[in-house]
Amino acid sequence: MWAEGAMVGYPSEKRVALVTGSTSGIGQAIATQLNQDGFIVAFHSQSSVTAGQALAAAHPEAAYFQADLSDQNQARQLIAEVVDYYGRLDVLVNNAGITATIPHAAMRDATPQIWRDLYEVNVIAPWTLITEAETALRQAASSDCPSCIVNISSHAGIRPKGASIPYSASKAALTHMTKLLAVSLAPVIRVVAIAPGLVETPMSQHWTAARQLWEMRSPMGRGAQPEEIAQIASMLIASHYLTGEILISDGGLNLT
Ligand SMILES: NC(=O)c1ccc[n+]([C@@H]2O[C@H](COP(=O)([O-])OP(=O)(O)OC[C@H]3O[C@@H](n4cnc5c(N)ncnc54)[C@H](OP(=O)(O)O)[C@@H]3O)[C@@H](O)[C@H]2O)c1
Repeated sequence: MWAEGAMVGYPSEKRVALVTGSTSGIGQAIATQLNQDGFIVAFHSQSSVTAGQALAAAHPEAAYFQADLSDQNQARQLIAEVVDYYGRLDVLVNNAGITATIPHAAMRDATPQIWRDLYEVNVIAPWTLITEAETALRQAASSDCPSCIVNISSHAGIRPKGASIPYSASKAALTHMTKLLAVSLAPVIRVVAIAPGLVETPMSQHWTAARQLWEMRSPMGRGAQPEEIAQIASMLIASHYLTGEILISDGGLNLT
């Protein structure tokens, strides 16, 4: 694990945001948006190191950190390294996630190992990161500007839909964790979640049936672009009051 970027004499006066899984798709768009919003961004990924270093080099004062979030020791170390590097942490976006595509009726295919793998990255890693970041987030907060955690969940964590039952259940756990932590960390740290529907990213590139569904049934007639989810993250982070909200961002599919 390491950081790429120039040290600039920290603790930083600018607010710092860590976006997990920010070398691709939704995470990359959120990191880029937060940079435009005036944050220093800590980029992170599991294995796409070259992409992460290039993104850090392209954004002022950004740095890249590598960690496999299926390993909770690496998750703990990630927070320690970001806080060491910048001297502060104001925003944590738990975006990194994995999926498994299994028909819901094929119950034997959804093995206990698949359940464990999905929970490790989609549920336990966000918990570990939040636990490790709590002290820094509290220190960075002020009475008129609480710190903020944004969890990237899924519409599949709210409705009985999604790529597989273990994936959807993992996102439902993240959604409920968001509400529980919003209560226990208030008023110093706000905790919110976004529950996207289909978003056009590498993860969803082969989800042909989902794409057809969104085109035919959703009021907006299409899936989202990652930048449209990033805009929502920016809006949630800009609020100083909203907490415990799960923002469904599915182009209105849930209404039909
Ligand atoms: N795309 C959709 O339609 C959709 C819909 C609803 C919710 N979501 C959720 O949105 C989030 C982002 O999805 P996306 O579509 O943008 O995915 P993506 O393009 O596949 O990007 C995933 C990112 O997460 C990182 N990552 C994956 N496993 C990791 C691990 N074990 N440790 C550390 N980092 C890891 C990846 O790093 P490497 O590249 O290095 O592996 C990558 O940067 C996920 O939580 C996903 O469940 C997506």
